[in-house]
Parts: sequence; structure tokens; C-alpha cells
Amino acid sequence: MYAILDSLHSYNRYLLLAAMVFVLYRAYSGWLGNKAYVKADNSASAALLGLTHLQLVLGLVLYFYSPLTTLARSNMGAAMKDSWQRYFGVEHLSTMVIAVVLIQLGRSLSKKAGDDTARFKKLAIYTTIAALLIIGTLASKGLLIGRTEDVIPVG
Ligand code: HEM
Repeated sequence: MYAILDSLHSYNRYLLLAAMVFVLYRAYSGWLGNKAYVKADNSASAALLGLTHLQLVLGLVLYFYSPLTTLARSNMGAAMKDSWQRYFGVEHLSTMVIAVVLIQLGRSLSKKAGDDTARFKKLAIYTTIAALLIIGTLASKGLLIGRTEDVIPVG
């Protein structure tokens, strides 16, 4: 069960990153090119939010099943002294939850915006900050591509 959820969380990262790049491309070209906000823009943003929510749910379940976080949660004080336990026990969780909130806000506020340019602008700004947080936190641990077992030193 853990292995399946871990793989889903791992592969969904690529779908989420691809959807984020696509939404950012459409949002910036729509904003800066004064384009009309069309059905494809709404679908892309909805797909990004769906993938993000899936990643959040998988991550929350993993938080209680992963050996890494189980160890960290059993002794948070000691976990703070180990960079990987601190990362998955605290940093990954908190940064990603903030990124999820920003992606949600980007979509919700863009839907409420008065005109198409404002809609693209809100989506572009909130999604950019979320992308920086997600890419930054994954890259800091060499996890933009690849799996934890390939990057965590054994022993
Ligand atoms: C929304 C953006 C998120 C992205 C892009 C993301 C990405 C990743 C990646 C790439 C890994 C490494 C997977 C591997 O080893 O192949 C990972 C692991 C993990 N993530 Fe996330 N994550 C996100 C959100 C979350 C959230 C919100 C939580 C918890 C509440 C979470 C909990 C975990 C845990 C516990 C692991 C370690 C799993 C293990 O290897 O045992 N993630 N995540």
C-alpha cells in the first residue's frame, strides 16, 4: 500500500509540474498579449488544481505511512538534527501546503476577477510563487527528478 501511494505521489509530481508550466505559459501569454480567457485556459487551470489536490491527499496519507516521516514524528527533537528527517517531517509538508493554497487562490481569485487580463494576471502571479516554492524545495534535495532512495545517503 505504502509503495503504491509513494509511486503515485512520485509520478504525479511530473504531471503537476507539466500542468504548472502549461498554465504559466497560457497565463503569461494571455496577460501580456491581452488575449481572451477561453475554455482551454479554464480547463488547464482546473486540471492543475485537480492534480495539486491529488498530490496533497497522497502526501497527507504518506505523512502517516512513510518510514521517513514515521521516524521523524516519533522523535521530532532528534529529527530536527537530521536534514532528511527535518525535510520530510517539517519542510516538505509546510512548503507544499503553502504552494497548494497559492494554486487554489490563483484559480479562485482569477475566476472572480472582473476582466480577462485581471484573470490571467492573478493566475500568473499566484501560480508563479507556488512554482518557485515547489521547484525550489524539490531542487534543494535533488528531487525534481528521481526518487528519495536514489538521493538519501544510506547508513
Ligand atoms: C503539492 C506538491 C508536492 C510535490 C510536488 C511533492 C513531491 C514529492 C516528491 C518528488 C517526493 C519524493 C518521491 C520519491 O521518492 O520518488 C515526495 C515525497 C514525500 N512527500 Fe511530497 N510533494 C508534494 C506535497 C506533499 C504534501 C502536502 C505532503 C504531506 C502532507 C507530502 C508528503 C511527502 C512524504 C511524506 C514523502 C516521503 C515519501 C517516502 O519516500 O517515504 N508531499 N514528495
